[in-house]
Amino acid sequence: MLSDQDRIFTNLYGFEDWTLPGARKRGQWSNTKSFIDEGREWIIEQLKGSGLRGRGGAGFPSGLKMSFMPKASDDGRPHYLVVNADESEPGTCKDREILRNDPQLLVEGCLLACRAMDAHYCYIYVRGEYIRERERLEEAVQQAYDANLIGKNNVHGWDCDIYVHHGAGAYICGEETALLESLEGKKGMPRLKPPFPANMGLYGAPTTVHNVETIAVVPEILRRGATWFADLGRPNNTGTKLFCISGHVERPCTVEEEMGITFRELVEKHCGGVRGGWDNLLAVIPGGSSVPLIPHWECDDLNMDFDTLRDKKSGLGTAAVIVMDKSTDIVNAITRLSYFYRHESCGQCTPCREGTGWMWRVMKRMVEGRAELREIDQLLDVTKRVEGHTICALGDAAAWPIQGLIRHFRPEMERRIREYQAAHGAAKPARAAAIAAE
Ligand SMILES: Cc1cc2nc3c(=O)[nH]c(=O)nc-3n(C[C@H](O)[C@H](O)[C@H](O)COP(=O)(O)O)c2cc1C
Ligand code: SF4
Repeated sequence: MLSDQDRIFTNLYGFEDWTLPGARKRGQWSNTKSFIDEGREWIIEQLKGSGLRGRGGAGFPSGLKMSFMPKASDDGRPHYLVVNADESEPGTCKDREILRNDPQLLVEGCLLACRAMDAHYCYIYVRGEYIRERERLEEAVQQAYDANLIGKNNVHGWDCDIYVHHGAGAYICGEETALLESLEGKKGMPRLKPPFPANMGLYGAPTTVHNVETIAVVPEILRRGATWFADLGRPNNTGTKLFCISGHVERPCTVEEEMGITFRELVEKHCGGVRGGWDNLLAVIPGGSSVPLIPHWECDDLNMDFDTLRDKKSGLGTAAVIVMDKSTDIVNAITRLSYFYRHESCGQCTPCREGTGWMWRVMKRMVEGRAELREIDQLLDVTKRVEGHTICALGDAAAWPIQGLIRHFRPEMERRIREYQAAHGAAKPARAAAIAAE
C-alpha cells in the first residue's frame, strides 16, 4: 500500500486550499527553474528513467513520446503541448479531481513538459460537461500568470502560454487527433495516421498530446528523482496511479495507489470491499469501459498494472475499475456499453459505423436469448472484423467488451438462448433470417 509520503496528489479530495498559496505550501513550484535550466534532454532522460507510461489509456512511455518531437523549430513552426482533459471513458473520474482540487500540479507540469518538447504554447482541452472544473482551472492558470510563473518573460526563463479550451461534449474528441481537429474548430473526427502529431499536429505543427495525470506527475518526478518513481510499483509498470473504483463496492472512490496493487487489496482497503463480500464478486472491468472484463475466478491475485492486465487479455486503460457483483445481468451490462459505442461512433469508417450498430442490435437479442446459438460465433467474428480495421481505436473499444463477454461468459449466453428456445421453440430458418436482419 502506498505510504503517505509517496503520494503526489496530496489534495485529491479537496480538503486543503487549491489556490496557488495552498499549492506552494504542499511543495509545488519549488525548484522549477532549476529543472528548466537543466534543459530539454535532461527532463526527457528523467522521465525515461522514471518509467512513466501515459495515463490516458494506452500506457505508451511518456519520455520516449516527448523525444519524438523535433528539435527546436528546425523549420520555423511553433511546437505545441496539448493536454487531454476530455475524460469521457465511462467509469473514469480521476482527471477531474486534479483539475478542481490540485490544478497547479497540472499548470507546473505543463510548463516543464513544454520545455521538454521545445514548446511555448500549451492547450488544455477540457471535457464539455466539466464546467466547474474548467472554471477552477482557468482561475489556476490566471493565478500562475499573475505570479509570473508562466507567460512571456516569466521567472523561470521559458516562455509558456497556456490556453484552456472547453469542448462541446463528445467522447470521440478524447481521441488525440479528433481532439486536434476540434481545437482547430472543425468536427471532432479522428485523422488517419501517419502523419503523427509529433510531425504534423495542431495547425500542421509538431504537437504532443498527453493526459492530465501524465503531465501532473512530471513536476514531482523531477523533484523527487526518477529512481524514486521507478522504485514504486512493478518492473515496467512504475509509479503511483489514480484508480477510480465504481460499481458494486461499499464505498466507490478515486484513490492514489502504487501501480500493481492487487485488485483485492484495492477494493478491500479503500472501498470497504465488494458489496455482499468477496465471494459475491462476478467480474470486473479493470480499465474503463473499453477493456474486456475479467471474471471473478481470475481476480484473486490480480495485479492492477499494464502488463499483468494485458497478459489477461484485458488492460489497465484509464484505471477506471468497474466492479460487478452477482446481481449483475452481465449480458445486459455489456449490451449497454455496446449502445454507448454505437452512439459515440463518428461514422467515418464503415466497420465502426455499421459494426457498432449491428453488434448492439445482436447484443440486445442476446440479453433475452432471442437468438441462434451459432450467432455467438457470428458476433465474435464481427468483433474481429471491426477490431484493427478502423481509423481510430473506438472500433476496438466497441469490440473488446463483447469479446471479453464471449470469452468468459459464453455458457451464460448459451443458457439464455436454450431457455428462450425451450419456451418459444427453436427459431425457424426464415424467422432466424428475419431476426438477423433486425
Ligand atoms: C475513442 C477514444 C477516446 C479517448 N479519450 C481519451 C480521454 O478522454 N482522455 C485521454 O487522456 N485520452 C483519451 N484517449 C487516448 C488519447 O488518444 C491519447 O492516447 C492520450 O491522450 C495520450 O496521453 P498519454 O500519452 O498521456 O496517455 C482516447 C482514445 C480513444 C481512441
Ligand atoms: S473507428 Fe469509429 S469513431 Fe474512430 S474514426 Fe472510425 S468511425 Fe470514427
